[in-house]
Amino acid sequence: MNAKGNQMTDDHILTELQDGVLTIRFNRPDKKNALSLAMYEALVAALERADREDGVRVVLVAGNGGDFTSGNDLADFLQSPPTDPGSPVMRFLGAISSARKPLVAAVEGMAVGVGVTMLLHFDLVYAGEGAVFQAPFVNLGLCPEAGSTLLMPRMMGHQRASELLLLGEQFSAQRASEVGIVNTVFPDGTVVASARSKAVRLAAQPPAAVRLAKELLKRDIAPAVGEAILHEAACFLKRLKSPEAAEALQAFMQRRKPDFSRFN
Ligand code: COA
Repeated sequence: MNAKGNQMTDDHILTELQDGVLTIRFNRPDKKNALSLAMYEALVAALERADREDGVRVVLVAGNGGDFTSGNDLADFLQSPPTDPGSPVMRFLGAISSARKPLVAAVEGMAVGVGVTMLLHFDLVYAGEGAVFQAPFVNLGLCPEAGSTLLMPRMMGHQRASELLLLGEQFSAQRASEVGIVNTVFPDGTVVASARSKAVRLAAQPPAAVRLAKELLKRDIAPAVGEAILHEAACFLKRLKSPEAAEALQAFMQRRKPDFSRFN
């Protein structure tokens, strides 16, 4: 795997292939598994490998250290925003939205930002009962991404999507299950094993039939999802340069509450 700066991606993204299941683990627990550019690069490489290799039938994604992921690394956003469709973030979104093989997630602890929106592209999502979800794009002066403005209202209806995306509050695994993001809530500490057993069962299904069924399930919406990802990304880039986002991101770095009272 490659290294970017002094950050070794092979430490922060771990992969393991067993029983036809490629397990990808976010492994940056001291930053709540926030996704750096180097981690996105490694994720893209792992997903491309999964698509290419016959030995991989299912991909299982989980986090190490008790959290799924706290989303995009906010320092990376400030220093090197994703400016073009070839950026690691955009290639990651392309890889998960067009993955041919099933994606299974095991969510423990925090799932924030893209930690929530990536799940909309997964086929099976399992969460621990203590998992906490949040899509705080608007809170950060940004806008929702990863096709979420298309996929969330389709999944749960406009009002529920607005509640999660405009208020940007934390919500429980139970709520995530009610709105359709999560299939099943398991007791904490058991979710990775439970998700893995579902992934192994899926890997034993006839692989071409599984791939075809997945493709058909997404067939009507796939072109619109690609378009939504690109459109949201263009809006997101503009928002990154906005005074509202500057205030929100600086407030996070300075560990204070943002103040949006002066904006119109
Ligand atoms: N980007 C960069 N660093 C992050 C991060 C992120 N998305 N999320 C957490 N971290 C870092 C913190 O800065 C802190 O680093 P430090 O120990 O060097 O100060 C460390 O991870 C632990 O986070 P902390 O905030 O102390 O943990 P917490 O349990 O109090 O809160 C969160 C956890 C996830 C609620 C909180 O960190 C958070 O809101 N993070 C930002 C999430 C976000 O906005 N994601 C992007 C959406 S687009």
